[in-house]
Amino acid sequence: MRKRLVAGNWKMNKTYREAMALFDKLNDAASSMPAEVDVMIAPPALYLTRFAKNSTKKIEVGAQDVSHREEEEGAFTGDVSAKILKSAGVRYAIVGHSERRQYHGESDEIIGKKIRACVRAELIPVYCCGEVLEERESGAHFDVVRKQLDTALSGFTAEELATLVVAYEPVWAIGTGKTASPEQAQEMHAEIRSFLKARFGDEFAEKVRILYGGSCKPSNAEEIFSQPDVDGGLIGGASLNADDFSAVIKAGF
Ligand code: PGA
Repeated sequence: MRKRLVAGNWKMNKTYREAMALFDKLNDAASSMPAEVDVMIAPPALYLTRFAKNSTKKIEVGAQDVSHREEEEGAFTGDVSAKILKSAGVRYAIVGHSERRQYHGESDEIIGKKIRACVRAELIPVYCCGEVLEERESGAHFDVVRKQLDTALSGFTAEELATLVVAYEPVWAIGTGKTASPEQAQEMHAEIRSFLKARFGDEFAEKVRILYGGSCKPSNAEEIFSQPDVDGGLIGGASLNADDFSAVIKAGF
């Protein structure tokens, strides 16, 4: 049985004061969050140490990105290595978010290096994949996502990826208010699981958590999360409000 994970990706939002207020509200709500769900928030990088130090055990902290470099320290201005994140109490790192792909030109080769860096430092990688609208409309979505997985996960063993989390985020659904239907999410999640089964074996595929992301909110979370291959969500907009995020965490319980 896979434990559900609901992760909040705050992106480039919230001043320090606003972030602390939201964080305090979530910590207050933590005791009413179901034990059956893991909860992670990924605030702007600057706040990670503070959050990691002060969060209840229920809420774990993740980075929105991590350096792809092999070096754990060195002259790489602006980069934050997995080792540094780990040393600050961070447990997860989101890698390959479509906004990093789109605005920073990240390829699946680079993203594979980020996963490698997470594995080395024992951070849990949350690998994002998903097709853009034209790819969905032309029917290429399964091929696109399989290719993304194939490239980013090449050269890894099942043991190395034991903690891997995959987030399927159709780009056309991110921040647009359009959500994949529960059926569209389920069929892609099943496809991803079957790819991982062929690559890493039955046991791996049964254990790996596959999250849905893209305009997931209190009103649709329960239906999406009830699909057999959906193991939780990566939540953007709805994670910026404590009541909405708490409602998504509780969806279906
Ligand atoms: P959204 O973002 O929930 O605002 O669509 C999801 C994401 O980008 O992870």
